[in-house]
Order: sequence, then structure tokens, then C-alpha cells
Amino acid sequence: MTPKEIEELQARALEELSRLADLKEIEAWRIRYLGKNAKLLSVLRGLGELPSEQRRTLGAIANKVKQSLENALAERQKALKEADSLRAQTRDKLDITLPGRSISLGRLHPTTQILRQICGIFTSMGFQVVEGPEVEWDYYNFEALNIPEGHPARDMWDTFWIDYQDEAGQRPMLLRTHTSPMQIRIMEQTQPPLRVIVPGRVYRYEATDATHESMFYQVEGLAVDKGITMADLKGTLFEYARRLFGRERKARFRCDYFPFVEPGVEMAIDCLMCQGQGCRLCGNSGWLEILGAGMVHPDVLRRVGYDPDVYSGFAFGMGVERMLMLRYGIEDIRLFYSNDLRFLKQF
Ligand code: FA5
Repeated sequence: MTPKEIEELQARALEELSRLADLKEIEAWRIRYLGKNAKLLSVLRGLGELPSEQRRTLGAIANKVKQSLENALAERQKALKEADSLRAQTRDKLDITLPGRSISLGRLHPTTQILRQICGIFTSMGFQVVEGPEVEWDYYNFEALNIPEGHPARDMWDTFWIDYQDEAGQRPMLLRTHTSPMQIRIMEQTQPPLRVIVPGRVYRYEATDATHESMFYQVEGLAVDKGITMADLKGTLFEYARRLFGRERKARFRCDYFPFVEPGVEMAIDCLMCQGQGCRLCGNSGWLEILGAGMVHPDVLRRVGYDPDVYSGFAFGMGVERMLMLRYGIEDIRLFYSNDLRFLKQF
């Protein structure tokens, strides 16, 4: 072999070695390049037969190449052995081929979900969403809504009073019992035409049971303009119910009493479970009540400075959890806020 051939052999051998990743293959490589029958070894063995000048140069090159191949081999074997033992150590603990563990995603509370849907339906009909204070004055919660002190209608809303007395010894502050006080606040600050909905928490001093909570959500609605009639009220609420509960829903309006509307109505939809045939959910009536509503009372309009001969309006108020109970057939309202994840994860 010429010195050039020996150098070429070195380059080829090192390149091959760098690609080997298995101890058996490496052993084969060792036999091929450094074993008894390897070309390089036969060069070294045949040195004695060469003239002294050629022996020196060829011997120096062949020895240098042999040394470099041996070093490269030792290094490669060491690296592979280390990788092997690392694999063995972690074999039982870490399986890098397993798919990653996904982080469980959070979700919105069912009340938040339905509130967003309700707001979406009404905003698409041109209503604005407004929020108001949960700690309210007696004036807005009752008086301005035609429920003066001593009026029997106050009994309809058992009230949490705030422990604060004014100079006259009265307790004028309370936790709002409904979202209707926002009707007054909005009309005081705005001129018609107006169309708003008010989602929010309300509070009632009531013993809780399967259908009553002391804190729950309502959504109030109010539209005031020239020429608004009962037909607008019915059309708007019917469309709302069909979008939330299904296009096939029927609606029923019956007289009801709320001091701040005239006439007042209660709206019901045909039962979601039995399609109006009568079942446990609807108490065999075929109908489910979903909200109270009515035409804004002329005295209420007058109180906020609107002329009832020019303007008219409709208002409505609905209980949000009761709507969820109807939609999903939930039997106990207390499940919503008892923070049982098994219940909440279903939505
Ligand atoms: C009102 O609160 C009126 N402000 C509604 C209204 C607004 C009428 C505008 C006319 C015009 P009512 O007390 O019926 O009405 O309550 C409305 C809804 O709140 C009920 O239909 C019911 O769905 C829900 N609700 C009432 N009390 C509770 C309670 N303790 N727990 C859960 N939901 C309740």
C-alpha cells in the first residue's frame, strides 16, 4: 500500500465508524480494519522486507493511522456503552415513546354558559347588555317600581336588609331581590328609544329547597320607544324561547301580577320533556313557566320623566338557573353552587 492509500483507508474507516451504533457492528469493523487479516496490519508485518528509507516513512504513517483507528474505536465503544447503561437505568422509569399527558382543560360554569347564550340572543336583536349594583337602595328595588313601604307586594320578595340606618332610623339599603331596579336606573340616565338586558345576581331571604336558592341569577329586559305594544313583547320573547329551547317550541302568555307592569304576564313554553303531553317535569300541565313580563306601568315611566302618552315599553325578568334546570332536566337548584365537580364537569 502506498502512503496515500493508507490515508484513504483511514478516512474511510473513520467515516464508517462514525455511522455505527451497535457494539456488534463495531466489533466487525475492528476485525476489518485492525484484525489479524486487516490490510493495515499486513503492511506493518511486511515492513521488514522493504528498503530502510521506505520502511521508515511507510512504517511511521501506518503506525500513526493504526493508533488513530484504535483511539477512535476506544472512544466509540465507550460512548456506546455509556448510552446503553443509561438506557438500561431509565428503561423502567421513562418511556419516551408514550404520548404526552394532556393537561385537563377548565370549563365555564353552566350558569356562565347560558348567560352568554341569552346575552348573545338578545344582542343579535339589538339589545345592549348592562350591569348594575347588587347592593341597592329600597327606592330602586321597591318604591320606584310602584311598591311603596307597606305595600303587600313587598311580601313577594323576602329581603336581606343591609345593617345601616339613615337619620330617620330607616334601613334604606338592601341586597337587590330582582334585577328590575335597573329598569329605573337605566331610564333615569337614558332617553328612549332603548333596548337593554341586565344579567346579574339577586338575593332572597328564603329557605333553600330543590327549586329555591337565596342567591341566583336573573336577566332583566327592557325596551322603550314610541308605539311599542304587547305584540312586540310577545314576538321578542317567543323568538328568544325558540332560539334557546328549539325552533319547535310553543309559547303561552297568561295574566300575572307585578306592580311595575300593566298588563302583567307570565310566559310558559310547552314542556321540553313530554312536548306538552304532561309529565313529572311540568307537573302534568304540559307547560313550563319561564319568565314574568309586562308593559311598563305608566306611573313608572312618569317617575323617570318619560311621557307615557308618547312612550311605551315592555319589560321582562327571568330566573337563569330555573332555565338551566328545564333545559337539562336538573332536579335540584342547589347543585349549581355546591361546587361538586362531578356535577359541573357534565356541562
Ligand atoms: C321578578 O323577580 C320580577 N322582577 C320579574 C319581572 C321583570 C316581571 C320585569 C315583569 C317585568 P319573580 O319573583 O317571579 O319576578 O322572579 C322571576 C324569576 O326568578 C322566576 O320566574 C324564577 O325563575 C326565578 N326565581 C324566583 N325566586 C327564585 C329562587 N328563590 N331561586 C331561584 N330562582 C328564583
